[in-house]
Amino acid sequence: MQSIAPGIWQLTIGQPEEHTPTRHRAFAPSADAMSKLPTVDQAPFDLSQIKTKQTARGLLIEIPLEASDELYGLGLQLKSHRQTGKKKTLAVNSDPVADTGDSHAPVPVIMSTNGWGIFVDTLRNATFQCASNQKVSTDTAREQTDSDIAINTEDLYAQRALAQKTLVIEVPHVQGVDLMFIGGPDMVDAVKRYNLYSGGGCLPAIWGLGVWYRAFGRFTQEQVLDMAKHLRDRKMPCDVMGLEPGWQTKAYSCSYVWANERYPDPQQLIDDTKAMGYKLNLWEHAFTHPSSPIYDELKEHSGNYEVWKGLVPDFTVQKAFDIFSDYHDKNLVSKGITGFKLDECDSSDFVYSDWSFPLLSEFPSGMDGEQYHNLFGNKYMQCIDDTFRRHNLRTCSAVRNAHSLASPFAFVLYSDLYDHKDFVRGVVNMGFTGLLWTPEVRHATSPEDLVRRIQAAMLSPQALINAWYISNPPWKQIDRTLNNDGQMMDNWEELEAHCRSAFELRMQLVPYLYAAFADYQITGNPPFRALVMDWPADENTYDLDSQYMCGQDLLVAPMFAGETQREVYLPAGRWHDFYSGKVHEGEQTLTVSATLDEIPIFVKDGTLLPLAKPVQHIESDTVFELTPKCFGENCRDAKLYEDDGVSFDHQQGKFNIVTLTADGKLTREGDYGTVRYVMGDA
Ligand code: GAL
Repeated sequence: MQSIAPGIWQLTIGQPEEHTPTRHRAFAPSADAMSKLPTVDQAPFDLSQIKTKQTARGLLIEIPLEASDELYGLGLQLKSHRQTGKKKTLAVNSDPVADTGDSHAPVPVIMSTNGWGIFVDTLRNATFQCASNQKVSTDTAREQTDSDIAINTEDLYAQRALAQKTLVIEVPHVQGVDLMFIGGPDMVDAVKRYNLYSGGGCLPAIWGLGVWYRAFGRFTQEQVLDMAKHLRDRKMPCDVMGLEPGWQTKAYSCSYVWANERYPDPQQLIDDTKAMGYKLNLWEHAFTHPSSPIYDELKEHSGNYEVWKGLVPDFTVQKAFDIFSDYHDKNLVSKGITGFKLDECDSSDFVYSDWSFPLLSEFPSGMDGEQYHNLFGNKYMQCIDDTFRRHNLRTCSAVRNAHSLASPFAFVLYSDLYDHKDFVRGVVNMGFTGLLWTPEVRHATSPEDLVRRIQAAMLSPQALINAWYISNPPWKQIDRTLNNDGQMMDNWEELEAHCRSAFELRMQLVPYLYAAFADYQITGNPPFRALVMDWPADENTYDLDSQYMCGQDLLVAPMFAGETQREVYLPAGRWHDFYSGKVHEGEQTLTVSATLDEIPIFVKDGTLLPLAKPVQHIESDTVFELTPKCFGENCRDAKLYEDDGVSFDHQQGKFNIVTLTADGKLTREGDYGTVRYVMGDA
């Protein structure tokens, strides 16, 4: 076992494959930041504990666990939180309807409450038996615990205690693999270490932390502009306007050419929306239509199967990467497009046989379809991200597939699934393995459902209203079955006001969230975290899949439609109700109710929360007026991050760390010369 970075050890078993996540990594590890984490002297396991075996199926790895190990991670698992006792076969799937391991973003990384992690450096669909199965025992004295005859299915299938908890990993097809053992000492340190090894957490363009609105897919240029004006007229904060498939001449597959019949003057649209303070984001996917100007050039650098009659470019081939990036640069980014929605790169050939390339596809790089499925999202993000970097610009974009080592990408995952609880579970789970996810809002079944969904989206990485299939904002046309020619609900203003209040809460929190993302970049600490990550010794946190930490100090517990109250577990310490200020002692489960305008939020005692006066949108020179709110008697100073919000100049030291004290003083340290935060009058 070899130490490859501070606190990370690599074990090479057999002959690893040529194509792996680390070989195709986009970013170098943040070595300096890693050396600032607590020192770990020893790998979490030693060689003698790890059993490996080559079988006809592939490579088998067995790692003994402690009885107290509880496992989390494996990417964006929407159907379950704690992975102990589960068997997951990781596979990219756009329609992950069951708790099998299929995911938009399967990541072969697992984290334990005992403060270690394992990263399996493979692009194969590996299976993880997370203490799910018991091998035939050699222990004859094993207690007979299973003697009762079950008379209901719960008892029948209930998890029986295992004599030995083992993590069994099977990597198919391979003759070898690299395993990275990630030290803690605490669970959150292992997570930080993994994120820093990936290159650090992303720092999105600051406008990406505002509200997003994706307009109806059949809109024309004029209708998009009308919607942009409407949101401004109605004082609904919004930073990003997203265009859906209709902007292109061909969308399934894609031409990347403006459809002039709907968008006669795209530059005008870019300029008009920019003048109103919007950033324009374009939907696309990478399957390239024969009519696309890049089709011919891309052909020889693409896979041997079509998707929607389009090419699948092999982004690991530099030429394909450059053709795609150059075209986007010249025709879209240079013209003022600030981000993209990279759809369908998780496309599934399991659900709709022709919606993706099969696992047996062959790519010019030598990868097969299974490997390329796992890498596709990462490489696609890298291609687009690089295009912005040429202009020294950060983006904040969207993507539907990611894999390991993805934390430096400011791309947020999303899904066509729509179960609200699963969506919130995604926010809870994404942080274990360097992902960002949005519980986006589309239609709703009732005004209450809409408001509850919007509140959760506002307290997530991307505050997204994805109205791609409804022509009105959902607060005017809540139900997707209302006709799309403009039929609206009566009294929509009332519902709009509830949504506005959620949008404004988001805008109040932008400086706080930006600081949390800066922390993600500098220390690897995820901006949204499951409670178990911060309280791994507290068993009460192990199954909390509908409440999460947002930044260091806020505990968020979304409400769901139809529920007038919910349970919230408060871990050790003292907590303050965000709205009433009421104090609650920790280590107890509260039953809380919340009016429609409130999403339960609890603030750690001693927090100085830097609330901003809500702005309608964020420019790079926006100055936030702060009214700090102190929760408790002696509030800790709050730290904010100040830079231009859009470029990579902060990597050359052009940023300030701003300290805000409880008596309302702001002091700054650093090399950024412009002020972004001032004290408000209130
Ligand atoms: C889906 C995507 C939706 C929307 C739609 C447009 O694949 O998940 O959010 O963009 O395509 O056709």
